[in-house]
Amino acid sequence: MQDQPTDPRIQRLRQLRARTQLGGGADKIAAQHAKGRLTARERIDVLLDKGSFREIDAFVTNRGASVNDKQALLTDGVITGWGTIDGRLVYVFSQDFTVMGGSLGHAHAAKIVKIQEMALKNGAPVIGINDSGGARIQEGMLSLVGYSDIFLRNTMSSGVIPQISIVMGPCAGGAVYSPALTDFIFMVKGTSYMFVTGPDVVKAVTHEDVTFEELGGALVHNSVSGVAHVAAESEADCLYLLRLLLNYLPSNNMEEPPLVKTRDDPLRTDILLDSIIPDNPNKPYDVKLVIRSIVDDGRFFEIHEHYAGNIIVGFAHLGGHSVGIVANQPQVLAGVLDINASEKAARFVRFCDSFNIPIVTFEDVPGFMPGVGQEHGGIIRAGAKLLYAYCEATVPKINVIMRKAYGGAFCVMSPRSTRGDLVFAWPTGELAVMGSDGAVKIIYRRELAAAADPEARRLELINQYKEDFANPYVAASNGHIDDIIEPHETRPRLINAVEMLRNKRDSNPPRKHGNIPL
Ligand code: HXC
Repeated sequence: MQDQPTDPRIQRLRQLRARTQLGGGADKIAAQHAKGRLTARERIDVLLDKGSFREIDAFVTNRGASVNDKQALLTDGVITGWGTIDGRLVYVFSQDFTVMGGSLGHAHAAKIVKIQEMALKNGAPVIGINDSGGARIQEGMLSLVGYSDIFLRNTMSSGVIPQISIVMGPCAGGAVYSPALTDFIFMVKGTSYMFVTGPDVVKAVTHEDVTFEELGGALVHNSVSGVAHVAAESEADCLYLLRLLLNYLPSNNMEEPPLVKTRDDPLRTDILLDSIIPDNPNKPYDVKLVIRSIVDDGRFFEIHEHYAGNIIVGFAHLGGHSVGIVANQPQVLAGVLDINASEKAARFVRFCDSFNIPIVTFEDVPGFMPGVGQEHGGIIRAGAKLLYAYCEATVPKINVIMRKAYGGAFCVMSPRSTRGDLVFAWPTGELAVMGSDGAVKIIYRRELAAAADPEARRLELINQYKEDFANPYVAASNGHIDDIIEPHETRPRLINAVEMLRNKRDSNPPRKHGNIPL
């Protein structure tokens, strides 16, 4: 209970501050709750360490209004400030849908820009919680200028501080481009949506009938478009997941990620890994079992879980060190690299490189996806993105070749010759220009045609080819593989490698910026 001040100036301050807490009023708050959504302030409370939030600009009003004006929109529909997550500083803005639908006016934008600039200057992540009807129609051009101001700061902060967007309601029109410029987008199933033009405009222009959810819901953006990276079950789940993610990230590009405590023995081995690769090279297995068996406490924070499942990316700890994991998934499309998988992994590799997070690659890739659709869709450009991302990355890069490392895909997935720091192979590794079936067909075509028993000869040649080429020993004898390790010892070997590479220093030639094939 606060005492009643006698000083009228303090009374006024308290009254005004109380007004800032009400948002659009009790009815609007009830309507927000009825939609299964929290208010802007409730979201901040769940996200941050208890009691750590410090708000600024609560007395900002919509342009042209004064705090004395009863109609003034105090806060102008966005709550801004900073606080901590697990004791580490983060900056936050949270749009308040109860105030004019969270629409973005000029003052609202200026508040966000102030937070972005403080975060950039002080080297801490920005978390943006989006829940808005978009540009405030009544403010016309000024609100568009506000968006552009935000986009510029998003771009300038890219690769300097982590920027994470949460979409927890509508995010429409040009408003989508601020989240799209950030590192990760979290959405909530059933209550959040993003689109450039909504269902009505779509109907008018293309005559397609589509609901908000079908057009831009969480699952659509997590599994079809790839715009979003995490799909949460509820708002509380979403905020919890975001807290977890920060465990793996440094606060800015000049820092190392935090070293976390773990009780998981760095020397722990897992004998089950020795038999995880099936005898039949065409049989799949779940690479996520490999990842979970190796990383600390089996914890893997997957990014883009529902998108391009033929490649898996995400964060984990090894001996308490944060690492980014990229792994071909033999269970989906045999782990082949296609357009979506290449782009997904390229973006992730670049994020890790920006923020000093070593990259561990688990490789079992039969090659690039063949097909007219892939060629016409630009698999050349997409594959080049991944190649570029790995080549340009200067963070420690460690590769474990579990089985197939064929053709161009071998060159893409961080071999030693593209500045990979360490390449391990399991004895099941097969490094070759192509699989044995295809290779034998091409190089022994004439001999097979003339053979008395072509099938028997074909099998003989396949076995010979495997012995000669499709194994890790040729590459190891040339030094392209640093060691052939037994699968069960992968965890201790990786932890040792991450620690050995901790002080790695490497750089790229001075230039304005490279020209990644976008
Ligand atoms: C001003 C807005 C607003 C906006 C909503 N409101 N959007 N006010 N500008 N853009 C107000 C409503 O008038 C209403 O005020 C309150 O917010 C809540 O809105 P409702 O419509 O009652 O809520 P709901 O039914 O949940 O619908 C939410 C909605 C809808 C789907 C977002 O409001 C909507 O379609 N809004 C317009 C979206 C839009 O077209 N925005 C412009 C996009 S173009 P009251 O007083 O009645 O409570 C854009 C360009 C940016 O953003 C370009 C940047 C480069």
